[in-house]
Amino acid sequence: MQIYTKYADLSKAIQEIKTNSKSISLVPTMGNLHAGHLSLIDIAKQQSDITICSIFINPAQFNDQKDFKQYPQTLEFDIEKLKQNNTNILYVPRIQDIYPNGFHKTTHITEKTLTNVLCGKHRPGHFTGVCTVVAILINQTGADKIVLGEKDYQQLLVIKKMIWDLSIQIQVIKAPTIRHENNLALSSRNSHLSLQQLKTASLLNKTLTGIKNSFDKKQEIIKLSEMLKKHKIKLDYLEIRDNKTLKNTINSKTYKNSRLFIAAFIDNIRLIDNIRL
Ligand code: PAF
Repeated sequence: MQIYTKYADLSKAIQEIKTNSKSISLVPTMGNLHAGHLSLIDIAKQQSDITICSIFINPAQFNDQKDFKQYPQTLEFDIEKLKQNNTNILYVPRIQDIYPNGFHKTTHITEKTLTNVLCGKHRPGHFTGVCTVVAILINQTGADKIVLGEKDYQQLLVIKKMIWDLSIQIQVIKAPTIRHENNLALSSRNSHLSLQQLKTASLLNKTLTGIKNSFDKKQEIIKLSEMLKKHKIKLDYLEIRDNKTLKNTINSKTYKNSRLFIAAFIDNIRLIDNIRL
């Protein structure tokens, strides 16, 4: 596996790959890699000749600086995992390779229709940070395909929309959520959970499946929100929305095209999940 920490060096490698007419898949990450990320890498490997994984903890997408500072950094372990998984290239850019003049002097990309609800509403500025860094990473890696997980479903839709709106020549490949044995969606943030918190966190997916299987979803949302409160889980949101437009569909007759979204805090650890209805 080749590791590049400077855009200038990555750029030379990309030129050679393109000269040899090889296709590239990008898996953008913020590190602390787990089985969910490795499943994205596996999909990328099937899709293209060259798989690039990027690790960049993007300060611009954290609305809470404490959250940014606490974000787990495990580069040595991540490198080992990627080597074992036969990733071709790891790109770990320095801050000056992504935002040479600082984020505030960089051109920002703000998606306008999908970002005023769910995480976009609860984490102001988050998706501007995500869109901007993903656009930069796509351009720097020259990727033909980008693999994104359904665990961050709103992020997947927002990036797809940005790519469409800006005519970026790249194909989006979506990958299913990988879960812990207790059905908790795998996330880098899970590494902050104690054993007891891990047990409590399994209530998130239980809530989603409980609502999915219920006849009166509105009533079940109220009931299960109360149950979460009793377990000291603080809800950010628990909402049913259209799986393309993210419009609220709680009052629709059929939930055929809807998804159920949850974000909640267990102590100060924020977790998200979603399932199709
Ligand atoms: O999903 C993530 O890890 C991040 O939001 C991403 C896509 C790598 C952008 O920083």
